[in-house]
Amino acid sequence: MAIGVFDSGVGGLSIHRALVDRMPQADFIYLGDQKHAPYGERSGEEIVELTRQGCETLFEAGASLVVLACNTASAVALRRLQSSWLAGYRQTAGRAVNVLGIIVPTIEAATGLPWEHEAERRGPKVENVDVLGIFCTTATARSRVYEIEIDKRRQDLAVFSEPCIGLAGMIEAGESEDKLKAVVESRVQALKTRIGRYPDRAILGCTHYEIIGDLFKAALPEGTPLIHQPSSVADALERYVARHPDYQIGTSGLRRFLTTGEPGPQSRIVEAFWGAPVTFEAV
Ligand code: DGL
Repeated sequence: MAIGVFDSGVGGLSIHRALVDRMPQADFIYLGDQKHAPYGERSGEEIVELTRQGCETLFEAGASLVVLACNTASAVALRRLQSSWLAGYRQTAGRAVNVLGIIVPTIEAATGLPWEHEAERRGPKVENVDVLGIFCTTATARSRVYEIEIDKRRQDLAVFSEPCIGLAGMIEAGESEDKLKAVVESRVQALKTRIGRYPDRAILGCTHYEIIGDLFKAALPEGTPLIHQPSSVADALERYVARHPDYQIGTSGLRRFLTTGEPGPQSRIVEAFWGAPVTFEAV
């Protein structure tokens, strides 16, 4: 058995890297649904169905746990799959399987509070003192998941999601750094205009953006803290696996990279991020 890591494409490699570094002995199977990437401009129904298919492929390949290394799938599909599909699939599979998202650990890192902690609303709403910018896909921004869940926990934190239309697709296509830089700078400026100033902190709320994290750092004022989603997810998964030994995750250090798209080596930006060539096999 293994840990499955799912994304629409190469973005989930940013989460995968942190998980592999944290649990080097565990077996990992990565799946990029590159045939259907990017997800960010798709409808909710499509995202739910594609995510379900991705989970099923990973379970069939031997995963016991699937991490949705994709904010879009976590925001739009996770609850639906947990409530309407997973229990039935478990019965058919006859073994312990589960699907985990990446937004809960990210919100815990952003708020500094455990998920269970919802602030009591007493009296008038406090003034927002800290502004958090979230760079994400259109579907994640439309879900308002970060705004809603953070507001339940920290009323002194104002959240602004900035959809970066087309950016994940450009990263997927291995576009030149100049073109990526221009889009990143325009989204940072758009967010600044909307807030009236730069955010105090930011989250790269699309796993593809972590691959070009340096371009976001350069476009934001120097020293703007970025909440690092991959390490927050690795912390949470490590705790989860320790609490749930019934999910077997293997011990042989297996690494497989699957794609629903064209098999073969990935782009230079992906290689630069990963630190070595990454070759996907056809699923
Ligand atoms: N990497 C994904 C995310 O975190 C999806 C990007 C996309 O396919 O549009 O949102």
